[in-house]
Amino acid sequence: MLRRSFNITLIKNETEMREPAKRKGVLIRAMTEADLDRVMAIENRTFPNPWRRSFFASDIYRPDALCIVAEDQTGVIGYLVAWGREEVHIANIAVAPEARRQGVGTKLMEAAIEFTRHQQAENIYLEVRITNTGAQKFYRRFNFVPTYIRRGYYENGEDALVMERELD
Ligand SMILES: CC(C)(COP(=O)(O)OP(=O)(O)OC[C@H]1O[C@@H](n2cnc3c(N)ncnc32)[C@H](O)[C@@H]1OP(=O)(O)O)[C@@H](O)C(=O)NCCC(=O)NCCS
Repeated sequence: MLRRSFNITLIKNETEMREPAKRKGVLIRAMTEADLDRVMAIENRTFPNPWRRSFFASDIYRPDALCIVAEDQTGVIGYLVAWGREEVHIANIAVAPEARRQGVGTKLMEAAIEFTRHQQAENIYLEVRITNTGAQKFYRRFNFVPTYIRRGYYENGEDALVMERELD
């Protein structure tokens, strides 16, 4: 009897260890100019060819754009930029390295899909580096499928995989 409950405890602990730690208190809200220092810090740490600050600064005011940040008690920990009407293009998404694999990207993507429905767009698509298999796995979770390759799309000559999801 004792042995049995000991085993059950062990199984429970193992399950808890495998559960990813979800970031607590994450809020999704519109990006403002006051967020741009934090956004640029993440952008510069994430991409070899980061966007310029002016790109974000103008997208904030673009009428057909969704420009959002994810924030918790530590500040801005991620962002997403998408735009379009008939079809929605995810132009940028990143989560701060220390906040990854905690469900933050999922919240940003859910907001982008919601935006696509709101726009009554037929599909949502994005480009991802052919070598960025982690992000490709992430997008597959939201039913994005690879559609074609844009040869030499990135500054270093790397190909982009275009991934797309139709909305019903
Ligand atoms: C891609 C990115 C935005 C995902 O954000 P995130 O907050 O880490 O994503 P989530 O925690 O919501 O991940 C949800 C699920 O997607 C999958 N996933 C996410 N990142 C993954 C990775 N690197 N490798 C494999 N699967 C991954 C997993 O199934 C994950 O669930 P799990 O952690 O329970 O296994 C983030 O990794 C990032 O900023 N990467 C660098 C920038 C980048 O590559 N942007 C995309 C350019 S096209």
